Order: sequence, then structure tokens, then C-alpha cells
Amino acid sequence: MKYLLSALDAQDHLENILEVAGKFKKGQGPEKPLKGKSLAMVFEKASTRTRISFEVGMYQLGGHPLYLSASDLQLGRGEIIPDTARAMSRYVDGIMIRAREHQDVLEFARYADIPVINGLTNIEHPCQAFTDIFTIQERKNTLDLQMTFMGDGNNVCNSLLLATAMVGMDFTVACPEGYEPDQLILKEAQKIAQKSGSVIQVTSDVAEAVKCADVLYTDVWVSMGDEEEETRRISDMQDYQVNQDILNQANKNAMVLHCLPAIRGQEITEEVLNGPQSAVWDQAENRLHVQKAILYLLLKS
Ligand code: CP
Ligand code: NVA
Repeated sequence: MKYLLSALDAQDHLENILEVAGKFKKGQGPEKPLKGKSLAMVFEKASTRTRISFEVGMYQLGGHPLYLSASDLQLGRGEIIPDTARAMSRYVDGIMIRAREHQDVLEFARYADIPVINGLTNIEHPCQAFTDIFTIQERKNTLDLQMTFMGDGNNVCNSLLLATAMVGMDFTVACPEGYEPDQLILKEAQKIAQKSGSVIQVTSDVAEAVKCADVLYTDVWVSMGDEEEETRRISDMQDYQVNQDILNQANKNAMVLHCLPAIRGQEITEEVLNGPQSAVWDQAENRLHVQKAILYLLLKS
């Protein structure tokens, strides 16, 4: 694996990422394999989990993370991405970016001669989706399952479409009209699903979508960058909340995931978020183990 811009880039490596993450979680990973290496972490948007898990992960692997707010870099004063990427490549061994525009991460990768990792864009959040697969495998001991994603067909949903297809998990998106996932990614996922045998569905029918779900997943209705549409989004997605009634319609012992941060009373209720079927805190912890696996596989010599 040379870079991780889309979940697709790990198509031949996901199994390995999950295995290495499991080793790191058990304390059986290699000791300080990234000693002497540095990771630039560029953030154009807020972050709690991604920032902390990459920063602590890099430290635990023996390397050095640099937190760089995009507005404090010359980028914020108009230095172009190609020049920033070329200069950074002379100092550090890898770049992780959380960007407003997916195209900007692709441009970074085009001009950097070191691995670039997508730490979330408007289109994808691959590190999150791989963590989610890891968390499901850990709790259910199988991936031969059906996941239903409720609400906004957003960046997290797009990466989950690809990741679930890659591991052969059935994936249903329940969203209102106008909030469907990215059409190009959907087509790509369908191609992968044909080979892996998974079934992908996109529907606005909540009852139909949840009735066979082994995993119920949701994310905020108003992602970073969508704030101007807040009122309309909240009103359009009212019927797509993950609450106890919806959970009762899913398979017995269905697990609940949310990438966090969560807005209680919108996409999920407190009762479900912190209820017995929720795995959200394991999921948050697992960002660390999966990030370490990704860093190790991309940056080791
Ligand atoms: N799930 C996730 O990426 O969280 P942060 O925005 O806190 O990094
Ligand atoms: N869809 C959310 C995910 C946050 C981790 C956003 O982009 O804001």
C-alpha cells in the first residue's frame, strides 16, 4: 500500500490492516517500528478522535507526530498545495490530512513523494470505515452480516459502502431522497460486491432497511461543511433516527455503531448510544489500533 486516499486504495490490504491492528491491540505488534520517522498531520477541520489516535499512535510506534492546523500553515495565506506538499516531503515521512475538499487530498498526494493518508474529506473517511469493520469482527467474530446505515449518505457512508463490499458484508443505506451516497462510489462498491458476494441496497424505507440488520450505524445529519443546510437537514431526516423502537425492529443483539461525535436527540438517542447493544466506545478506542496498523504498513522501511 502506497497511500490511503480512498478506502479503495486498501482493497488488497484490508485483511492485513485488520490483522496487524489486532496484534497492536493485544500488545503483540512490533516494538517502536517507526523510530526516527515523522508524520505531518494537517487539519482544515475540527477533530477529537482522528487527531488523538494518529498522534498517540505515532508516538506509540516510536515516531514523531506534528499537529499542523491548516490555517497556521502558509497554506492559510495562499501557498499552493503542490508547493506545500513538495516542501513537506523533504521533512517528514508521511502526511495525514483532514480536508474540506476531497480534491485537495488528491492534489497533495500528486505532489508529495511520501505516503498521504485521508483523515476525512467531504467524500470519504476510510480510516473510520476500517475501524468499523475491525470493531464488528471483534464483537461478532464474523463479517458475514448485514449492516444498515441510517440517515445521511455522507463521507462515512461512502467509505463504509466500499469497505463492506470489500469484506463481503451486506450493506443497506436508509436515507431520505436527496441524501443518497455518492453515485460513483456506489457504482464502484457494486462492482466489488459482485465479486465478494455482498448485497448493496439504497432505500428510503426504514422498516425494510432495519428488519434484517445485524449492525445499525448512524452519523450526524449535519456534517462539517453542511452547517448552512442545518435546518433543512434536521427536518428531512426526522424519520431516520436510531432509537430503541428502531433497534427493536433489527435482528436480536444487533450492534450499534456511530463514528462520533453524536448529537443526542437527532440521529441517535442517549438510550441507544449508551445502551447494551452499543459498541461506540470500543469503536472509538479501535481508531488507535487501526491507525497504528495503517501507519505501520505505510511508513515502515
Ligand atoms: N470519528 C471521527 O473522525 O471523529 P473526529 O472528528 O473527532 O476525529
Ligand atoms: N460525517 C461527519 C463525520 C465526523 C467524524 C463529518 O464529516 O462531519
